[in-house]
Amino acid sequence: MHSEDYASALLAWYDRERRILPWRAAPGVTPDPYRVWLSEIMLQQTTVKAVLPRYADVLRRWPDVRALAAAELGDVLASWAGLGYYARARNLHACAREVVERLGGSFPKTEAELRTLPGIGDYTAAAIAAIAFGAQATPIDGNIERVVARLFAVTTKLPAAKAEIRALALRLTPAKRAGDFAQGLMDLGATLCSLRRPACGLCPLVSGCAGHAQGLAEGLPYREEKAERPTRRGHAFVALRDDNAVLLRERPLKGLLGGMLEAPSSPWMEGSWSELDLDHAPLTASWREVPGLVEHIFTHFHLELAVYLAEVASDAKPANAAQPERCRWVQLRDLHRAALPSVMRKVLAHALEAKPLARAAAAPLRARRRSA
Ligand code: ADE
Repeated sequence: MHSEDYASALLAWYDRERRILPWRAAPGVTPDPYRVWLSEIMLQQTTVKAVLPRYADVLRRWPDVRALAAAELGDVLASWAGLGYYARARNLHACAREVVERLGGSFPKTEAELRTLPGIGDYTAAAIAAIAFGAQATPIDGNIERVVARLFAVTTKLPAAKAEIRALALRLTPAKRAGDFAQGLMDLGATLCSLRRPACGLCPLVSGCAGHAQGLAEGLPYREEKAERPTRRGHAFVALRDDNAVLLRERPLKGLLGGMLEAPSSPWMEGSWSELDLDHAPLTASWREVPGLVEHIFTHFHLELAVYLAEVASDAKPANAAQPERCRWVQLRDLHRAALPSVMRKVLAHALEAKPLARAAAAPLRARRRSA
C-alpha cells in the first residue's frame, strides 16, 4: 500500500464508522476550537468513557473561552475532581485567560503558536491544529502509536521507538482532512486495533499491515519494562465537627494534586510505618485510628494512608503548624462539589464508614468516585 492509500482507506472507513462524540463537529460543519481544545485536554491520560459526562458538565458551565477565563480556579479544579492529573485543570484555566487577554479570545491556528500556551504540548498542538483548523499535523497518542507500530511492524521497544513511529505517522498524514485522519486512527485504535485481540479481519488497512502479515500485530508495540512503583506512606486526619463539617486543607498550587483539597496529612514518605512521625495532626483532639488502610496508585508511586478520626467541638481551630490559612471547614453535604481528588474521597469515605449519620450526610461523596 502507498501512503495515500492508507489515508484514503482510513478516511472511507471513518466516514462510515466514526464514533459520534460530543466534541466532534458533524461532517461539513466547522469545528469550534474551544470544544476541540477542551476535549483534547480532558482526554489526555483519561478514557473517552470517563470524559464524556464530565465534558458535558464543563461545557454547560463554561460554554466558551471567555466564560472559562472568568471562572475561579477553585471552581475549575472542583469540576475536575476525580479525573486526576490536576495540572491539566490549572493549565486549562491559565490557557483560557491567556487566549482571552493576549489573543483577544481566539485560539491560534498553527502548532508552533499553540505550543506557546499553558498545557499545550506537542500532542495537543497537533490535535487542535489538525482537528479544529485542518492543518496537516499529526497528533500521536497511545492508540495511534499502537496502530502505526502494527502497520509497519515496528519492533523497537517503546519509548525508544517513539521517533520512528512519529516519522512513519507523519508520512501517512494527508494534506487534506488531517483532523479526520488523526481521529480515524484514534477510532481504529479504540475499536478494531485494540490492545488485546485486534479484529484484523474487519480492518480497512489490513492489506497494508506488516504486523498482521508477519503475525506480530497483537503483541505490538513492544515496551521496556517499567520500574516498579515505590510505596509511600502517611497519616491522614479527618476532624469531624459536631455540625457535620470536616476540616480540609488546600494543597500548595505547585506539585502533586496542586490546588486540590485534602484531609490534612503528614508528608508521604517511603519507609516503614514505624519510621513515620505521628505528630502532624492539625489540631489537638482524641484521635482514633480507623482500622484498615486507604490505598491509591499514582503514576510514580503507590500510596498507603492510615486514617485518623476525631470528633471535635464547633469552636475547634486548626493549630498553627497545620497552616490554618489554607484550612477550611466544609459541610459533609457539600463534599460532592468540593475540589477533592479521588484519594481524598476514599480517605473521607473510609473515616466516615463507622459513623452512619455522618456517612449519610456525605452520601453524594461516593457518587463521583473515580480511579484517578
Ligand atoms: N482521544 C484523544 N482525542 C480524541 C478524539 N478527538 N477523538 C477520540 N478519542 C480521542
